Parts: sequence; C-alpha cells; structure tokens
Amino acid sequence: MARLVLDQITREFGDFVATDRISLDIEDGEFLVLLGPSGCGKTTLLRMIAGLLEPTSGSIRIDGEDITALPARKRDLAMVFQSYALYPHLSVAKNLAFPLRVRGMPRTEIAERVRAAAEAVEIHHLLDRKPKELSGGQRQRVAVARALVREPKAFLMDEPLSNLDAKLRTATRRELAALHRKLGATFVYVTHDQIEAMTMATRIALLNRGRIEQYGTPEDLYDAPGSVFAAGFIGSPAMNLLDATLTTTDGKISVFAPGVEAVLWEGATPERDVVLGVRPEHLAVYAGGAPEAVPTAGVALRGTVDLVENLGREQLVHCIVGEERVTVSCGREEDWRPDQLVVLAAPVSHVHLFDRGSGRRLEWRPDPAAQSVADAALAADAAQVGL
Ligand SMILES: Nc1ncnc2c1ncn2[C@@H]1O[C@H](COP(=O)(O)OP(=O)(O)OP(=O)(O)O)[C@@H](O)[C@H]1O
Ligand SMILES: [Mg+2]
Repeated sequence: MARLVLDQITREFGDFVATDRISLDIEDGEFLVLLGPSGCGKTTLLRMIAGLLEPTSGSIRIDGEDITALPARKRDLAMVFQSYALYPHLSVAKNLAFPLRVRGMPRTEIAERVRAAAEAVEIHHLLDRKPKELSGGQRQRVAVARALVREPKAFLMDEPLSNLDAKLRTATRRELAALHRKLGATFVYVTHDQIEAMTMATRIALLNRGRIEQYGTPEDLYDAPGSVFAAGFIGSPAMNLLDATLTTTDGKISVFAPGVEAVLWEGATPERDVVLGVRPEHLAVYAGGAPEAVPTAGVALRGTVDLVENLGREQLVHCIVGEERVTVSCGREEDWRPDQLVVLAAPVSHVHLFDRGSGRRLEWRPDPAAQSVADAALAADAAQVGL
C-alpha cells in the first residue's frame, strides 16, 4: 500500500530540462499512467521514483516518508522494464525466486510466493523453462510475476507491453488491469499509447516536454481536454482543430472561419483568436444545401468530401473545409463520394474552444453576473475563491 507524492521534481541533463517541476499526488491503489510522446520525460520521471536517478531538485514521499535520498533497493518498489531483464541462464522459477533469495527470505516462504505470483499471471506451467524457451508474451508475464513476488508498496512499469504484437498487447492490457483490481496496489505505468492509458488508468498524467499538460481521469482528458496538445493527443482519429475567430453576432457568441459557422451561447465577448475543436465521432454529415441540417446552437462546417475510408464497422469521411481537413467518423448507412458538397454539424455540447496564443482550454461561464469565455483553469480557480 502506498501513496506517492512528487513535489516539484526537476531533472536536468546539462542545460536540458527533462522534467520541469512536476508535482503529482498519487493515491493509494491508483493506476496512474504517465502518458506522452517520445522524449517527454516519462522514463526519467519513473526512474526518479524508483530511485535509479536522482532529481536535480524536488522531493518524493511515500506514505509521508521522504525517500528522495533513499537508495532504490530500500524503497520497496518493484519496476518492470520494457525489455524484460530476465536472467537467461536461470529457469523461470529461479528468476522469480531471485529477488527474494538476495533478501535472505526462508525457502518455504519463497516457494509459496513464487507459486502465488506464477498463478496470478498464469505461468505456473512454465516454471521449469528458461527465458529463451518462452514467447514474448510469456516473458513479459515472468517479468510481471518477478515484481509480484516481492509484494512491494507500489509497481512501476515502463512500457511493459511495447514488445508484444497488437493482439497480445490487448490481452495483456486486460490482464494487467484485472491484476491491479485484484491486488488493489498502487501502479505507476508509463506508455505513449493513449488506448492503454484510456483503458487502464484511474488517472492519467499527460506529459509534454517535461511538464504536466493535464492530470485527470481518462474521462476528464477525453471530455474536456485542457489544451490543444491534450485535445490532439487523446482520441483516434484525432480531434479536428481549426483556427477561427470568436466574436459576437446578434447578441450571441459565435465562431467563424472559412466554411465554419458556430453559434454557441447568448452573450457577448471581445473578439479573439481561438482554435475550434470537434471530435470526428461528434460530427454528423448531411448533403450540402440542406439548411435544416444546421443546428440552432452548435457548429456547422461547409465543405466537400475528399476521401472516404471504409473501416467495416464505420466509415471515415475526410472533408476539406476552407483550406483545412476535417474528419468525420460515422455509420455506413449512407454513401459519401469524393467532391460531394456536405455540411458537417455538431451540437454546442461537443464544441471545444482553446485560446490560440496559450493553447489553453476556454470555457463559457453561464453566470449572468460574470458572463465570459474564460481560460478553463482560471475559471475553475475563480469559482473556488467565489468570484
Ligand atoms: N542520461 C541522459 N543524458 C542526457 N539526456 C537524457 C538522458 N536521459 C534522458 N535524456 C533526455 O531527456 C528527455 C526525456 O527522456 P525520457 O527517456 O524520459 O523520455 P520518454 O518520455 O521516456 O521517451 P520514450 O517514449 O521515447 O521512451 C529526452 O529528450 C532524452 O534525450
Ligand atoms: Mg521512455
């Protein structure tokens, strides 16, 4: 059991800042995923939690105890690496027993823990084999079992599924999530795969260039991305993002760009440059020239079909709106052809707005006393202090 608190963790390599003042409060029993593109600092952060790398500044606490200066072997954390790091000359059973033997645990207890861990990940029939006699997926399970036998305070995993093929990755993903539910232990899991993050995490810390871009549940990140970066990173196919202008027309707040017309809320706003975001699955396609297609509150994009991809269960209709590409994911009831004129529409509840300069999410504050389109994070802070 472990609550992990990272406080302002910075790691520099020479002039380069690999992680920049990262603070995270990881509750006991959480499945925290560190998600982000290659080079954003995920492994660096995990290695600092494990005690394999020293932070330049900041502190790490486990259950209230400051462990920043504690060596890795005294932290009681187990790490699973991307490359399984098994001993090739030892059998699976001996690989599992190894971390316990070096701690001087009695033989009978070692045998019992090895048996329990092997059963938990279903490798009990493979205990006598050597690592080279195992498939990639089986080796991965041995690596997980070797972390399990130690019954550590928390599990740290760095892209443990990346060496597996797509099918095995999906299966192992489910097994890891089930294992987490069964153990109720704290997991910190690194991946650049947003599907892994969405399906396994209780919370996601999305990293970008060494900083936390957004920290929240998978639903938070998907439903209310805090920035253009988060909006583009989570979701496949990616959210459509269009440069546009926020303005007031006929007492309503609206958004314009070539081919784009969005009437959002009653009220007024100073004109500002924004990025308009709509997910492909939230747009509906109508034949062009059908005025009833345009919702009274929401967004309407006028364009032409460029390309249609049939994915079997659904189709992706790629369109050109103004000079931008917009993708719609929809059912296959209707056939769309290249060059066809179309209107793409989404209700206001599925429209995302971001400030173009800062990239931060904007939100409408419906309170008549303070009606404005404000930075979402600032608006939340303001609400907390009663503004
Ligand atoms: N020992 C080191 N010396 C210098 N730079 C380093 C060192 N280790 C990491 N870096 C740099 O720090 C940045 C973060 O690296 P890190 O390995 O944490 O990325 P990552 O998010 O795990 O990426 P990936 O998804 O590719 O594994 C990278 O730009 C990397 O080049
Ligand atoms: Mg890495």
